[in-house]
Amino acid sequence: MSESKVIELLRKSYGDELETVMNYQTNAIILDGVRAEEIKESLQQDIQEELNHSQQLGNRLKQLGARPPSSANFTARQDSLQPPEDSTDVLSVIRGVLEAETDAIETYRSLIDAAEAANDPVTEDLAVTLLADEEAHRTEFRGFEKEYQND
Ligand SMILES: [Fe+2]
Ligand SMILES: [Fe+2]
Repeated sequence: MSESKVIELLRKSYGDELETVMNYQTNAIILDGVRAEEIKESLQQDIQEELNHSQQLGNRLKQLGARPPSSANFTARQDSLQPPEDSTDVLSVIRGVLEAETDAIETYRSLIDAAEAANDPVTEDLAVTLLADEEAHRTEFRGFEKEYQND
């Protein structure tokens, strides 16, 4: 059924957003050095946005008569965002963020398609808004990647 695909993707996105919050926060804390300052600050801002995304997804699940998952239903997936051994390896964190944002973009594109197929414009509208946020994050971190690659 189309609606269950929507709910499945909403639940998946909810877990992804919270895993992103955990990994962005951990990376923002562990990074060291003058070169890391800009990235740490940017991650701190994104943490608030991703947390807000998860809240919106959870509220939408409730409106659809479903529930957001909790930690017992959770499977960690963000291998690329595990903090680097070397706490000054800013570039590896940037690349992990790019992978997470690209993954989120793909999930929200799938959610847009599933919501459209289910004739659920409210979920579709939410997915479009979140997609725009993730694209903005990715653009910002692509800029950082260029900058830090060339150093
Ligand atoms: Fe997000
Ligand atoms: Fe994001």
